[in-house]
Amino acid sequence: MSEKIAQLKEKALAELATVETTKQLQDLKVQYLGKKGPIQELMMTMKDLSKEERPIFGQAVNEVKKYLESKFEEAAVVISERELAKKLEEEKIDITLPGYKMEHGNLHPLVLVQRELEDVFIGMGYTVEEGPEVEYDLYNFERANIPQDHPARDMQDTFYIDAERLLRTHTTAIQTRQLEAGKEKMPLKMICPGKVYRRDDDDATHSHQFTQIEGLVVAEGITLADLKGTLEFMARKILGEKCAVRFRPSFFPFTEPSVEVDISCHMCGGKGCNVCKHTGWIEVLGAGMVHPGVLEMAGIDSKKYSGFAFGVGIERIAMLKYGVDDIRHFYTNDLRFLKGFSRFE
Ligand code: DAH
Repeated sequence: MSEKIAQLKEKALAELATVETTKQLQDLKVQYLGKKGPIQELMMTMKDLSKEERPIFGQAVNEVKKYLESKFEEAAVVISERELAKKLEEEKIDITLPGYKMEHGNLHPLVLVQRELEDVFIGMGYTVEEGPEVEYDLYNFERANIPQDHPARDMQDTFYIDAERLLRTHTTAIQTRQLEAGKEKMPLKMICPGKVYRRDDDDATHSHQFTQIEGLVVAEGITLADLKGTLEFMARKILGEKCAVRFRPSFFPFTEPSVEVDISCHMCGGKGCNVCKHTGWIEVLGAGMVHPGVLEMAGIDSKKYSGFAFGVGIERIAMLKYGVDDIRHFYTNDLRFLKGFSRFE
């Protein structure tokens, strides 16, 4: 009988020596020491033994059981250590590898210029107003003193939605809305940034969609001198302290008088270069004194109040400021182009 116990012990130890994983170890433990295992089986046979043999046999089986239990425990420690070491080896990270670079975006050049212009005007006490891009003919044209069949409509080829509505062709549409909305709240002092649309063929200097900022000041006693001083201040802030501003007579139906505004070339300081086509001056925006008829149509007394307005293309300013030679760069979203502006943020 004791031989059987010894054999069992040897067999268990031999199998234990081949175990590699905790799972295998647990299975083997159940196999030998579990309720249905051979040790338990031996215990069951005790009842068939004589009174004298029983305690000796029982003790022998118990010893083997204890011995195997301790061996299983030892093996459990060794195996779990081995497993941990293996896991650590597999999950080892090379801390000398360069990390992944975090991609982060930057502001679009048009946003940069728009924000800069907004800051300049907010600093002068202007509010920032907006209006709808799908606009009524009424506000885009009629109230801007451009009635049906007026030849000035040809200057702004239009995307029509239906007989009454269109994609606004200029931010002057916001101006006419604001005049109406503000007629009881004089004085008015605001800028109105926004996208505008024209049925132009896209090329280096034209785009069917672009961005403008409209400026509007209405109060008692506003003159052309206020307009000039304001634009000069803006130009110096945006393009450089040495900028001078020049007015040339022009025509817009919604202003009288109307002017085309040139800024002295910030590249050559007025000496003449490629940017200013060797004239020393760069045309940047249209402006004028708000036409009395436009004030009256909005319900404002043109005898009491006068005002100036201007409309500036943000793309135009951005092209001048950053030396961009093709307006399409702003919309094609080539990251090589856009990323270059991160340093201006
Ligand atoms: N609306 C004009 C355009 O889109 C720009 C403009 C010119 C706006 C003169 C004005 C202005 O407010 O007074 O070409």
